[in-house]
Amino acid sequence: MKVLVLHGPNLNLFGTREKSIYGSATLADINSELEKIAQELSVEITCLQSNSESVLIDEIHRAGAEKVDGLLINPAAYGHTSIALRDAILGVSLPCVEVHASNIYAREEFRHKTYLSDIAIGVITGFGANSYFLGLRALVKSLTDRKKTSA
Ligand code: DQA
Repeated sequence: MKVLVLHGPNLNLFGTREKSIYGSATLADINSELEKIAQELSVEITCLQSNSESVLIDEIHRAGAEKVDGLLINPAAYGHTSIALRDAILGVSLPCVEVHASNIYAREEFRHKTYLSDIAIGVITGFGANSYFLGLRALVKSLTDRKKTSA
């Protein structure tokens, strides 16, 4: 099973950015823990961070063409603004789990809505770096269950 992990804009600053909100884990820390979990679950993951909407969209298209099984995405601020990101995921029918380190519902109102939440299998928000780890496990379980029921 192959999973693409996408980190959206400003997430390269994890570990130094607004630590009281996002915690002290760096993006490298998060990716390395995700790699460990992926090995445990026998899943192949590719992790990529970009500040550019177009790069994220191109990666989603590539994942669709390469028959990647699922997407774990922290869309960061693009989640609140980008219909294009939503359309890309829908366009290649990529099952996804959306994650946020902070609890977006406990923050400013403009963060309460995301353009991905209703097309995602599920959303995990507010557990810091652990949102990613829970998200990867939930995505893989969900993809495995789907494969079983479609077999
Ligand atoms: C975030 C929450 C978003 O509202 C914000 O724009 C981010 C990070 C999170 O992980 O908590 O950049 O996605």
